[in-house]
Amino acid sequence: MPIGQIVGGEYGEVLIRQKSGRTIEIGDLLAIDDLILQVLDLEYGSLLEKNDIERMSGMELEGYEETALMEEEIRNYIYAKAKPLVRIKDGAPRIPKILPPFFGNLERVNKEDFEFLDDPQDSLYLGKVRSGSQVLEVPIHINGKEALSHHILIPATTGRGKSNLVKVMLWNLIPKGYAGLLIIDPHDEYYGRNEKGAKDHPEAGKNIEYYSTDPPSGGYHLRINLSILRPWDLRGIVDITEAQNQALYVYYGKYGKNWLENLLTSSLEEADSHGVRETTLSALKRKLRLAFDISVKNEEVRPNGNIFVNKGSEALVRDIAKSIEDGKKVILDTSSLPEDKELLIAGIITDRIFKNYKSYKEKGELEDKPTAAIVIEEAPRVLGERAGRNVFHQIAREGRKFRVGLIAITQLSSMIPREILANMNTKIILGNEMKSERDAIIGSAAQDLSKDSKNIASLDKGEAIVSSIFTKFAVPIKIDLFEDLVEDERGSKKKLEFFG
Ligand SMILES: Nc1ncnc2c1ncn2[C@@H]1O[C@H](COP(=O)(O)OP(=O)(O)OP(=O)(O)O)[C@@H](O)[C@H]1O
Ligand SMILES: [Mg+2]
Repeated sequence: MPIGQIVGGEYGEVLIRQKSGRTIEIGDLLAIDDLILQVLDLEYGSLLEKNDIERMSGMELEGYEETALMEEEIRNYIYAKAKPLVRIKDGAPRIPKILPPFFGNLERVNKEDFEFLDDPQDSLYLGKVRSGSQVLEVPIHINGKEALSHHILIPATTGRGKSNLVKVMLWNLIPKGYAGLLIIDPHDEYYGRNEKGAKDHPEAGKNIEYYSTDPPSGGYHLRINLSILRPWDLRGIVDITEAQNQALYVYYGKYGKNWLENLLTSSLEEADSHGVRETTLSALKRKLRLAFDISVKNEEVRPNGNIFVNKGSEALVRDIAKSIEDGKKVILDTSSLPEDKELLIAGIITDRIFKNYKSYKEKGELEDKPTAAIVIEEAPRVLGERAGRNVFHQIAREGRKFRVGLIAITQLSSMIPREILANMNTKIILGNEMKSERDAIIGSAAQDLSKDSKNIASLDKGEAIVSSIFTKFAVPIKIDLFEDLVEDERGSKKKLEFFG
């Protein structure tokens, strides 16, 4: 029994009459011949004149005799508008360029309709195919090594499942050596210090590193030794003028790795002798003291907090970069840091990773390296127009050439410049209530989603559309609930123990 029949429309918007007694939902996937269509909108249809409909309704509402309609299921119905999503030709997915036959009968898709999907190399599991709110037992994988280096955007309104998705991706990536991950975690939600998290993975011990200002046993201290800072680390992170920037380089040129200390204790006379003006020097000193939380007493530089220190942790940035290159997943718990310090530290480490990868490319060693991906929450903080040029911008623009990518999470895609959005070649679009946000996402998607606005608005928690240059069509998926994944892992471990 078909669920509906094609009665009109045009390419990109096929009109389907729903069979009475059956229900078509927005987002449903319907199959006809070698085509799969996706429902984008629903509407009422009727063979009756508008006046007649309103008169009949009035009579019934106002208590006149009931107006029984002959053959009601024929006269009144529901229209679904659907777009051809994918055509399967010779076992492979293609962009559909045809219309399905007029009066053609449609059925809901089933598992067998997706036999054309294959498991790519270096695969990354994202979720299962979803038809409306129904989940099919069809896993969706993309080539993770490629997709990660071409950036992934995860846009959604709050509470729709962005963090859950990152947890799921991280979990699946832990055993895979093809990608190293740097996760900047301002909510301390990924490691699972007090709840389930990455630490519960059987391979967490060798593949997860956890840095925190207050690390549990097995974790590392997150702190930066001031001596490793270089003037360029501050670019786009500390707000400085051109003159101040020049002054940084003057001191760096003169004092090398001791530039910061010398600048902070510099006398006006000395500054003057380097051509640095008094106002520049004092403003710069103030900004640097504030940025790194340091004070200067009796010509001595003293860290006030426990993040920027002058003893120990000299190798932290180098170690983290090395771990990423070994395909490990490094989580930075920045939950106790103010935002500017979080971004400063994230910027310094990311910059080191990016520089290393650039040098590998120059030396022709990139082939052997895993993709390095950086997970950043509230991405407009670093990618927004106002953030200025920084290493994240740079990676968004040219990271893929060096196999360094971003996983950018945001509620506000519209705050990210269009060209950067367009560079994010995989978008895992979760529910979004705001039209302006949906427009920004749709306008930069890898597939034509111009008619999917309602579809995106109607996405429930964990429901997503994957639009990617690495998928032949925009795939509707349901993402697993992270806690279920962890349970499954435990279950299978128990089974193994049982069977011996
Ligand atoms: N795939 C899913 N399946 C079922 N429920 C989910 C799924 N993803 C998320 N949820 C539910 O929604 C809640 C919120 O999810 P999550 O914290 O991932 O949202 P978020 O988009 O990161 O929100 P925020 O913007 O506040 O960070 C979860 O606690 C969980 O209960
Ligand atoms: Mg979140």
